[in-house]
Amino acid sequence: ESLGPLQGKKVVVTAGGTVERIDPVRYITNDSSGKMGFAIAKAAQMLGADVHLIAAHTDEAPPEGISTEKVESAQEMYEAVLRVFENSDIVVKAAAVADYRPAEIAASKIKKRGETMTLELVKTTDILESLGRRKISQFLIGFAAETDSVEQFAQEKLKRKNCDLIVANDVTQEGAGFGTDTNSVHIFDAEGLVLQLPVMSKEEVALRLLTLAAERLPGRLS
Ligand code: PMT
Repeated sequence: ESLGPLQGKKVVVTAGGTVERIDPVRYITNDSSGKMGFAIAKAAQMLGADVHLIAAHTDEAPPEGISTEKVESAQEMYEAVLRVFENSDIVVKAAAVADYRPAEIAASKIKKRGETMTLELVKTTDILESLGRRKISQFLIGFAAETDSVEQFAQEKLKRKNCDLIVANDVTQEGAGFGTDTNSVHIFDAEGLVLQLPVMSKEEVALRLLTLAAERLPGRLS
């Protein structure tokens, strides 16, 4: 039996959109369906890895047979990722994490009052950036969902967040980004474009991405 290129590797994948509570019945979230992250978790397992999936809100149930931890907010996702980070070889951040959350979560349902209302938002912790600062030998893969200047913004993110690879999807493009079964991505490292993939299934994107990561893992002789 041949061993997959990720045999024995510990891979952590985040998927879905975080949910930031406003009050007991209301929240802020985004359009992430979890499909991209789930496809990555499945592909990593297929390539032999020991996979831990951290899933926020998704449209479908997480894949069976993969260790899955459910989280709600960006803060919960941050704590869950930190617990497993030190022991991981590859971390893939496919989740769409809220950049801001309500400053306070109201204990009871907010009542309708004036004609307008203002909700104060505060920044969440940038999980990827924090991992980028802590990393020792972990291979960090970020995603970048962009609507314009995809290449420039993706590369800025890669540098700021100290990632090894960043997967940019232009979410305005047909068949790419949030909710679809397909994606079309550009993958960058610190030197520039590494791989450009036309529209294909998220499963195929996941396989291509992880195969690339496996080739670039630290300590690999090639
Ligand atoms: O779930 P699907 O419907 O299949 O859609 C897939 C997807 C479009 C959600 C996915 O391909 C994708 O692009 N995920 C990242 C979306 C995103 O939040 O991008 P961003 O450019 O805002 O963030 C950049 C990176 O920083 C991401 O890896 C994100 O996980 C991370 N981040 C962002 C904010 C934050 N507070 N913490 C983070 O770790």
